[in-house]
Amino acid sequence: MSNKKILVLGTGGTIAGRSAVAGDNIGYRAAEVGVDDLLQGLNLPSSALIGHVLEAVQVAQIDSKDMGPAVWQSLLLALNAGQADPDVGAMVITHGTDTIEETAFLLSCLLPSDKPIVLTCAMRPATALTPDGPQNLRDAISVAVDPLATGVIVVAAGQVHQAEHVMKVHSYRTDAFHSGDEGPCGCVEEGRVRWYHPLPRNESIALSEDAQQTATRVILSGAAWPRVEIVLSHAGVSGDGVDALMTQANGPRPVQGLVVACTGNGTIHHELQAALERASQAGVVVWRSTRCLFGRIICAEGSPDSADPSAWRAVSFSPVKARLALALALMSDSLAR
Ligand code: SIN
Repeated sequence: MSNKKILVLGTGGTIAGRSAVAGDNIGYRAAEVGVDDLLQGLNLPSSALIGHVLEAVQVAQIDSKDMGPAVWQSLLLALNAGQADPDVGAMVITHGTDTIEETAFLLSCLLPSDKPIVLTCAMRPATALTPDGPQNLRDAISVAVDPLATGVIVVAAGQVHQAEHVMKVHSYRTDAFHSGDEGPCGCVEEGRVRWYHPLPRNESIALSEDAQQTATRVILSGAAWPRVEIVLSHAGVSGDGVDALMTQANGPRPVQGLVVACTGNGTIHHELQAALERASQAGVVVWRSTRCLFGRIICAEGSPDSADPSAWRAVSFSPVKARLALALALMSDSLAR
C-alpha cells in the first residue's frame, strides 16, 4: 500500500500533554499539543514512511477520562471517511492511556476491516525529560504501514496489542499495558514489526454485520446510548446501589443493562444477587464479567448460562469492555448473539 495516505487522528491525552515545569511527569495538563505538532516533533525520515504521506486531523482534544459518545461519534465519522477513501491506507489515533482500551474495543466491534486502525498514547507528557509519546507514535506509524497489520491495534512501549485483550494495568510506568493470558501480538524494533502470530481479519469481536451497521447508525446519529451501568460484587456489598438505580426506571434515562464485575469465576454476593434478580425481572439485561485481571468466567460444558436468571450470560471481556458490548447489543437489538 505504498503512496497511500495515513490519517493521524488526534484526540488528546497525555501524549499531547504539557507542563509548565520541564520534566514534571504528573503535574501537567493533558490534551494541549496539536496532533500536527506531535507529528512534526518526530522528524520522521522518509525511509520510515516508505512512500506514504501523513495527514493530521484533530478530531478532539480531551483528557481520555472524559471519553464518551460525543467524541466516539466524531472519531467514527473520521474513520468511516478514511475507510471509504481508496487513497487512505491506514489510520493512526493518538489517545489518552486511561480509556484507550475502551475506544479500541468499541472500534473493533464496529469497524472490523482490513485497513489497520492503530491507537497509541503516552504515560508522560510531551514536555517530560524523556517523553514516551514520540517513540510510541513512531512505532504506531511503523505498524500502520506494515503489510500484515489489520483491524484495531494498540501500540505502546514497543508492544503491539489486540483491542480485545489490551488493558491498562499500571498507573505510572511507561510500560503500562498488558494483554492478559493472550499476551501482545507483536513488538516493534527500530521501526520493524515482529509479529508473534497472525491477526484475525474482518471479524467484529462481538457483533454480527447487521448489528455493526445498526449500532454505527445509532452512534453517528448522536442518539442517546442505552444506559448500561457496571456494578462491582465485593465483600460486604449490598443490593442498595442496584435498587437505587431501579427507582429511576420511569425517569428519562432508565437503566437497560447491568454488567456485574463478579468475584472469581463469575460469582456474586447473595445480597447483590437478590437485587439483580429484581432488576432482571423488571426487564434489565444482566451480564457477568470477572473482576479478575487474568482469565475469564468458565461455564460448565453445555450449561445454559443465559436461561437461568441466577446464571446470567457470562462474557469473556473485562467489565468496561462488556459494558460497551452490552450497550452495542442493546442499540442494535442483537442480544441473542
Ligand atoms: C488521558 O488518559 O487522557 C490522560 C492520561 C494518559 O494519557 O496517560
